[in-house]
Amino acid sequence: MKKLDFYLITDTHYFERSLGCSGEAYDNYMKGEQMCLAENQPADRAVFEAVGKDDSTDIVLLAGDLPKNGEYESHLALVEDLKKLQAKGKKIYLITAGHDFNDHPNAYAGKERIPVKGTTRDDLWELYYDFGLSDALAVDRKTHSYVVKLTDGFRLLALNVDSERETRGSVSDEMQEWILKQLDEAKAAGDTVIAMEHYPLIPQQPVFDLVGDAHLRDWRSKAAFLADNGVNLILTGHMHAQSIKRFTSEKGNSIVDIQTSAPVGYPSKYRKVSITDNKVSVKSFDTPDFVLEDGTKVDKPYFLRQFSQMIPNRMASMLKEGREDQTGIQKFLLKRVRSLTVGGVTRLAGFGAKPEIKNLKVTDFAVKLVLPMFEGDPQFGPGTPVYEDLSKFFSRISFILNKVNAKLSKDDRKVDIKELVLSSLYNDGDLSDNDCEFTI
Ligand SMILES: [Fe+2]
Ligand SMILES: [Fe+2]
Repeated sequence: MKKLDFYLITDTHYFERSLGCSGEAYDNYMKGEQMCLAENQPADRAVFEAVGKDDSTDIVLLAGDLPKNGEYESHLALVEDLKKLQAKGKKIYLITAGHDFNDHPNAYAGKERIPVKGTTRDDLWELYYDFGLSDALAVDRKTHSYVVKLTDGFRLLALNVDSERETRGSVSDEMQEWILKQLDEAKAAGDTVIAMEHYPLIPQQPVFDLVGDAHLRDWRSKAAFLADNGVNLILTGHMHAQSIKRFTSEKGNSIVDIQTSAPVGYPSKYRKVSITDNKVSVKSFDTPDFVLEDGTKVDKPYFLRQFSQMIPNRMASMLKEGREDQTGIQKFLLKRVRSLTVGGVTRLAGFGAKPEIKNLKVTDFAVKLVLPMFEGDPQFGPGTPVYEDLSKFFSRISFILNKVNAKLSKDDRKVDIKELVLSSLYNDGDLSDNDCEFTI
């Protein structure tokens, strides 16, 4: 019997608080953010503490975006925290990603956004050498990808797809060749290979297929390549969403992508994965509650408030609220959008909305729709007021959608926005996005 247990944490976006994270510039920046920032260091520490207490596994995996935005000081402080976790007997294997290097590292004080020292790719090699690379059976020096033996019968294929800004989220032919060599060697040794990589392999919901940065480039062919070469499980992050999806190749081989949210942004989760032979069990945990120095309790509703204010605030920012260059039309539009209800929109499309949702403000409705796509397991399936009214709405505006579909479609893949959105309103797969069991 082969057995493996590990914790999976991704997108820690750790921020060294002493750099500065308060004031007017900070408050303005946070208005458009999905995740927290000033709270990230204690939030990550709360997760590390919980993981450190569990003696049932000694393996912890981190799937990239370690600091907020590449601040060197955040890396240094995180490394110290990870060393403490190692001192408790944990073996930590991690990869880095786009936010780990050169990504506008900033701190905040008063009215100022202050640039701080960033991090290079070479720095990352040095900083995190003892968190995977030093134990590796093989290393791809160019991308910082590596293979490591996790335990008897299991290897981790840690893929770094963020080595260059221009090709972020993609696997080159050269890298694919390196992967193939590693998979052949693992096969010869009789080891099961689990892959870890930052970008989602499979979109969290079908509609995210349309968003280029929401998944690995050319994801269908990469998923088929991995599945057809014996990789049946991959661990990913990046979108800060909870999603577990299965892809089956034309040859009939399947791969499951366990995509996990950031512990520092709603739904604020990390996971524990247990594998016995080919049976996989996934359990999700909330970031533990904690209290800031000023007595503020940071808990699930706290993370939810940060997430929920993002959509209305971004809309206000698009229409230049509070800025000198806001035009009269933008001011008028913002006022109208804010007061618009679901019933008001459907009336424009020539039908009355269901009573359950007709009085909802459109901005609240948008949050209601988007939130479950990040929490996992959305519940607006056929028969629900949301599904039925959206379906009717899309039918009424089909003359517009047909033009957009034609523009987005490619020779080998037709796009149908109505179908993509409606199928994203519920989970019709056999896997729950949060806790589930399946075979690989
Ligand atoms: Fe991230
Ligand atoms: Fe990312």
